Amino acid sequence: MTIRPWFPTFIYYADLQPKGAAVFNRELWEECLQIRDYDREGQRWSKNSYPGGYTSYASMANLHKLSSTFMDLEAKITKHVHKYIRHLDMDLRGKKVEMTDCWVNIMPKQVVHSLHLHPLSFISGTYYVRTPRNASAIKFEDPRLSKFMAAPPKRADCRPVNQTHAKYKAEAGKLILFESWLRHEVSANQSEEERISISFNYDWR
Ligand code: NI
Repeated sequence: MTIRPWFPTFIYYADLQPKGAAVFNRELWEECLQIRDYDREGQRWSKNSYPGGYTSYASMANLHKLSSTFMDLEAKITKHVHKYIRHLDMDLRGKKVEMTDCWVNIMPKQVVHSLHLHPLSFISGTYYVRTPRNASAIKFEDPRLSKFMAAPPKRADCRPVNQTHAKYKAEAGKLILFESWLRHEVSANQSEEERISISFNYDWR
């Protein structure tokens, strides 16, 4: 008898760089705060769509084209994206991967990022710039959840591979990559300090 897993969902989690993350994050952190101060349109958008927090998602989502620090970040992330693509056995047919969007998320205390996915791209992810101790995790949902119908729930001691949700710690210096169709959310930030991350999308063209 054989029982094998098929159709897995791979999530990539790594240090962005082997060393020097603290210095790089300091630069990114300062720029993230400057962007928030400058981006009036984003402040207005966030008031309605990201209550209590700030995101440049709808106003300045091309930060990798505007700032040399973010360009540097893009180059670092793209190396990881290539590794991830190799793991996924994707054949890009001679096309290139390209970061299409890059934006800042700042979550003060109690701010939530509700369940969503990233349309118009194939690989997405987040880089953590500043994370308070016990910063809320990013939580992914089993993409087959809507198809479970009459299936019984999972046991409390269920193996990780059979869990219906997967959580990853938000930790400054860590990079997480996932396929853009994978739904995810961030629960309320319980810390007095801001949780700051940079999210991005990749396309192949
Ligand atoms: Ni997201």
